Amino acid sequence: MTDEDTIESVLKEDRHFEPSEEFRQQANLDPETYEELVAKADEDYEGFWADLAREELDWKEPFDETLDWDPPFAEWFTGGELNLSYQCLDRHLDTWRRNKAAIIWEGEPGDKRVLTYQELHNEVCRFANGLESLGVETGDRVALYMPMIPELAIAVLACARIGATHNVIFGGFSANAIEERVEDSDCSVIVTADAGWRRGKEIELKDAVDEALSSGCPSVEDVVVVQRTGRAINWYDDRDHWWDELMAKQSADHEAVPVDSEHPAFLLYTSGTTGKPKGVLHTTAGYALWTKLTSRWVFDLKDDDVYFCTADIGWITGHSYIVYGPLQNGATTVMYEGAPNYPRPDRLWEIVEENGVNIFYTAPTAIRSFMKQGDEWVDKHDLSSIRLLGTVGEPINPEAWIWYRDTVGGGDVPVVDTWWQTETGGIMISPLPGVTTTIPGSATKPLPGIEAEVVDHDGDPVDPEANEGGLLVVQKPWPSMLRTVWGDDERYKETYFGRFPGTYLAGDGARRDKEGNIWIMGRIDDVINVSGHRLGTMEIESALVSHPSVAEAAVVPRPDDVKGQAIVGFVTTEDHADGGGPELSEALRAHVGDEIGAIAKPAEIRFAPDLPKTRSGKIMRRLLGDIAAGRDPGDVTTLEDPDVLDALIDE
Ligand code: PRX
Repeated sequence: MTDEDTIESVLKEDRHFEPSEEFRQQANLDPETYEELVAKADEDYEGFWADLAREELDWKEPFDETLDWDPPFAEWFTGGELNLSYQCLDRHLDTWRRNKAAIIWEGEPGDKRVLTYQELHNEVCRFANGLESLGVETGDRVALYMPMIPELAIAVLACARIGATHNVIFGGFSANAIEERVEDSDCSVIVTADAGWRRGKEIELKDAVDEALSSGCPSVEDVVVVQRTGRAINWYDDRDHWWDELMAKQSADHEAVPVDSEHPAFLLYTSGTTGKPKGVLHTTAGYALWTKLTSRWVFDLKDDDVYFCTADIGWITGHSYIVYGPLQNGATTVMYEGAPNYPRPDRLWEIVEENGVNIFYTAPTAIRSFMKQGDEWVDKHDLSSIRLLGTVGEPINPEAWIWYRDTVGGGDVPVVDTWWQTETGGIMISPLPGVTTTIPGSATKPLPGIEAEVVDHDGDPVDPEANEGGLLVVQKPWPSMLRTVWGDDERYKETYFGRFPGTYLAGDGARRDKEGNIWIMGRIDDVINVSGHRLGTMEIESALVSHPSVAEAAVVPRPDDVKGQAIVGFVTTEDHADGGGPELSEALRAHVGDEIGAIAKPAEIRFAPDLPKTRSGKIMRRLLGDIAAGRDPGDVTTLEDPDVLDALIDE
């Protein structure tokens, strides 16, 4: 599927699906309430948010001011005090939810653990005490580099409980990536595991932490290690602690530390267009409010639902919609450790059937791979418990949307295509399942309170009648927006607000149709979206160039049927005459894997004697993108040396 195909197919798409009367009747948000919310946000924006914040959050101290907007810096609910872990746990303990399953966890090898709200609370309190016993204080940063095991959720909530800012580093990243992220945020503690399971293989997490600490990370004083697989690891007595030993010494009582509304809740690093990943900062109250509300509105979460989001907590989707959103609502959230197709392609359907999952949230790339595996893997299971399906991370092609609804959802459940980003903290554009008429491929409309718009290059809204494309922006601050890029206010300003002052630039292209529905067209910057994960081309190029044989490198996306986009690296070797062969190609792929992580490995390396450049010396990535995708490169008049291109096409 090429970008053109996507645009082509979504433009032709006109199948409309109304919410069923049955769903509408029981939905958390009905059309009338929706209209009221939209009208209220329109008339009195701050009042709208203030009322919601008062109703939804458990304030230790009430806030004085709803919004302090000094563009592009926002402060929400200032003067208020609360605690995110209290929001997720304590508030349920004096209700019947106390003994309800908070987390149902499925390990890849087939082990399983269920934690009730009370049990989760006890574990979180113990670990909060454990962190404090290591000297962690409110405001310190703690890195979590862990597999998808309950201890990861426990560690996240324990940090929140003491007001330490967590920095979750996806367990698929390399030692270098750990070093970069830990150093940028000065973490004092890293929580990890000996290893995690993925497709029956051990992912050696502790080894990667050791490697990162051997070359850098001077701020780290302690490493806490969960024993997950039992593999032999190196041990450093002066800094390493076994999770179990630390926990055994702690009490299960811990008073949640009230923090300011704007207290830094967490950092999550995401790829940008320059080499260095950005530490996206989210703060406490606004993030709590929006993840709670969107979970209830978009997923229609009810008390008797079992909810399963297949993301990893290493990404924003896992933060907001495995941990904070569902738990604040007192839901039962399912966590799965391993690969979706291990040991068989129906692993996820097994989990759905066994646990009676009602709400299922995954990425288009996963849906496309389920389609490829064949319907028989779905048909083997009774999935009738499913009553709502969600997708996130990349544009979904209508074919995959329809397959998802029909084959997984039995043809009669709402599908919510949710658009949002690490930076937005929570869902921004999405159907509301009891309200919105859905169209396959469109995330439909902004949620109440979210002023998302598609604008032209001057910042004026595009004309829906003309079905025009433009830039996706958010025109007013919202509570769960990022507050800055950690340690780099300038980069925050420039990246998100540099184009249109006071208006947030999402970095996505979009289109608005006559009905006002928004169709996301993909990134407008040098970011590649592989399987719903954003990777900066610069980051991968830096990794390639750091290999001794590489003189110059450019990385571009190529459309991929399953992953959405695949990475193609164009490389000029030190010895320009030498084209490089399969061996070097494999070595370079492995090198990128070591530098960033397996997810960033190029699918293909093409060697070129020279890269196409403009007269001012800029590599023309657009041309490379066309070549990688097998498209005609079109206008090449700005090229310094057109022969370079011929050599590439002949390849
Ligand atoms: O390009 C958009 C795409 O994913 C980007 C955000 O990536 P990340 O911060 O990693 O967060 C992913 C999960 C929230 C966006 O800029 N994207 C996300 N959701 C959608 C999407 N593209 C199209 N449709 C979506 N529903």
